[in-house]
Amino acid sequence: MERKDFLKKSLALCGLSMIPAAIIESCSKQSYAGPGNVNFTLDLTSSANAALNSVGGYILNSSGVIVIRTGASTYVALSTICTHQGCTVNYNKAGAQLVCPCHGGVYDTAGNVVSGPPPSPLTKYTITRSGNILTIKS
Ligand code: FES
Repeated sequence: MERKDFLKKSLALCGLSMIPAAIIESCSKQSYAGPGNVNFTLDLTSSANAALNSVGGYILNSSGVIVIRTGASTYVALSTICTHQGCTVNYNKAGAQLVCPCHGGVYDTAGNVVSGPPPSPLTKYTITRSGNILTIKS
């Protein structure tokens, strides 16, 4: 390497080292939120929603929300957008976890981070049941 090239590369490295750590840190801590303005219903008597008739069953909504039956009379509605870099998580019914294929982030069915790089829980939506109708809202 010639002296001129060495000096150019050294100056470039010095310039990079002067980027404030706070800027780098704020970029690495960005968190992706799930969809907003969520408001839909699911009829539990509909064959389209039959998966919710058994514990562990789930429905994926086209807006990026997954509804999971977590118990005999309990359900959870979560965003499928990983909070790390926005990939779509997959539900692992056997492990009762949501797994991100991009960097291995893992969430439990409450949306909490179990392992991996996600900085925050999945966006959670309110879910209420009236008779056979589930209502999911932001
Ligand atoms: S985008 Fe999901 S772990 Fe990175």
